[in-house]
Amino acid sequence: MNTWGVRLSPFARNTVLLCSLLVIASGIAWMVLGWQVDEQDYTDPLHTLRHRMLVLHGITAYALLWMAGRLSNLHQQGNWRAHRNRKNGLMLTMVLALLAISGLGIYYPPHEDWHETISQLHQGLGIALALLLPLHLLAASASRRIRTRPDNAR
Ligand code: HEM
Ligand code: HEM
Repeated sequence: MNTWGVRLSPFARNTVLLCSLLVIASGIAWMVLGWQVDEQDYTDPLHTLRHRMLVLHGITAYALLWMAGRLSNLHQQGNWRAHRNRKNGLMLTMVLALLAISGLGIYYPPHEDWHETISQLHQGLGIALALLLPLHLLAASASRRIRTRPDNAR
């Protein structure tokens, strides 16, 4: 079995899931801390913590995109051709691509006035990723169960 194949090895699965968890958790922590923090008060320790969450987010987001690249060849294309978990897999892939694009838009908004809208869009997509990933895992185990039934050769 290939580590990053149609079916992921435990190492590859755990790496993808750990990275996704860190990206999602750091993004959500940034949002939640935003409700408590006083934006103007730079002595507020929550301000520093919020900044650190964003740094963690930026680093782990890079790593997650790297993982997505590793998945694209065998896992995504292979399962797509085999018609397995297509709907959910496609949505997950699209959300990841839109997150990467909107993440860039936060850094370099085409117009300064768009910054807030792009940030909101990015956060909405982030929540969508947090919901889609567990659904992908559930669909994956359902698809595995069907394939390994003794009366089903596929
Ligand atoms: C077109 C896109 C995709 C398709 C068609 C697809 C399809 C599948 C299928 C069929 C499985 C079950 C494999 C098996 O156990 O036999 C699976 C599992 C999995 N997929 Fe995807 N996938 C796609 C994209 C992605 C992306 C973008 C990610 C990560 C961000 C991802 C992460 C995972 C993980 C972590 C598992 C669980 C592996 C396990 O339980 O052993 N997939 N996928
Ligand atoms: C592959 C997926 C993702 C990528 C590539 C990505 C990328 C980025 C980038 C580049 C930034 C700007 C960092 C900075 O200003 O220093 C950012 C900010 C942010 N991201 Fe993500 N992100 C991803 C997923 C997520 C997820 C899953 C969530 C939430 C659950 C999320 C929530 C946020 C939040 C709240 C911010 C701060 C927004 C702001 O500064 O206005 N992101 N992301």
